[in-house]
Amino acid sequence: MISLQGIHKTIIDGRHQVRVLDDISLAIHEGEFVSIIGPSGSGKSTLLHVLGLLDKPTDGQYFFTNEPVLRLSPGRLATFRNRRIGFVFQSFMLMPRMSVLENVELPLLYSRLSRRERRERCIAVLQGVGMQDKVKQRAIHLSGGEKQRVAIARALVNDPDLILADEPTGNLDGAAKSGILQIFSKLKAQGKTIVMVTHDTDAAAIADRCLRIQSGRIVDAKLAGGAK
Ligand SMILES: Nc1ncnc2c1ncn2[C@@H]1O[C@H](COP(=O)(O)OP(=O)(O)OP(=O)(O)O)[C@@H](O)[C@H]1O
Ligand SMILES: [Mg+2]
Repeated sequence: MISLQGIHKTIIDGRHQVRVLDDISLAIHEGEFVSIIGPSGSGKSTLLHVLGLLDKPTDGQYFFTNEPVLRLSPGRLATFRNRRIGFVFQSFMLMPRMSVLENVELPLLYSRLSRRERRERCIAVLQGVGMQDKVKQRAIHLSGGEKQRVAIARALVNDPDLILADEPTGNLDGAAKSGILQIFSKLKAQGKTIVMVTHDTDAAAIADRCLRIQSGRIVDAKLAGGAK
C-alpha cells in the first residue's frame, strides 16, 4: 500500500546541513501495524511527517496505493491527506475551547456531508473510542486519556486508509495508556493500517513489525508482537 524509496531529508540549520533522514526505503502493506522506535533525535517524527504528507523529503519517492503523492499539487495534497490519512499526536492537538463533537467534526467540514450526516459519523467514531457520553464537553476540560481518545476519533472520522500516531501514549499514565493501546489493538483487528512511533515497549509489542531508526537510517527491521 505504501512504498518509500530512497527518502532523504536534509535540513539547513544555520550554516550546517543536518541529515535527518538518510536513504530510507520502506514498504507497508495494507492492514499492517508497524511500530517505529529509536533514540531521541533519530528522525522518527520526521519520517512520520513525511509518511503523513506534512513534510516533504529532499529526495526520494513515495507511492501511496500506487500514486506518486509527492507530485500532487498543494491543493490536491491537502485533500489527499484529509481523506486518506489520520494523524494522532503526542500532545493531542485539540481545539481547547471547542466541544468534543466539534473537534471530531473538523476534518468533515470540507466534505459534502449534511450537518446531520456529519453528526452521525462523529457520534459513531466517538462510540468506538468510548467517548459518546462527553460529546458536549469542551476539550480543555478533559483528562489526558480522554483528549487522546477524542484525537483518535478525529483521526478516524474520514475512515482513512492509513493511521499515523506519534507517541500517542507519551503523555499518559498507566491506566490511560492501556486504554489507548486497547483502541489501537482494536483498530488493528479491524484491519486498519497503522504506523506508530513509540518509546514504549508495551506499545511496540502490539505491532506486527518493529522498525528501529538511528541517525536517520533504518538499522533493524525485525518482527515483533502478533506476526512472529
Ligand atoms: N526544522 C528543523 N530544523 C533543524 N533541525 C531539525 C528540524 N526538524 C528536525 N530537526 C532535527 O532532526 C533530527 C530528528 O528530529 P525528529 O523530531 O524527527 O526526531 P525524533 O526521533 O522524533 O526525536 P524524539 O524522540 O525526541 O521525538 C533532530 O536532530 C532534530 O533536531
Ligand atoms: Mg519525535
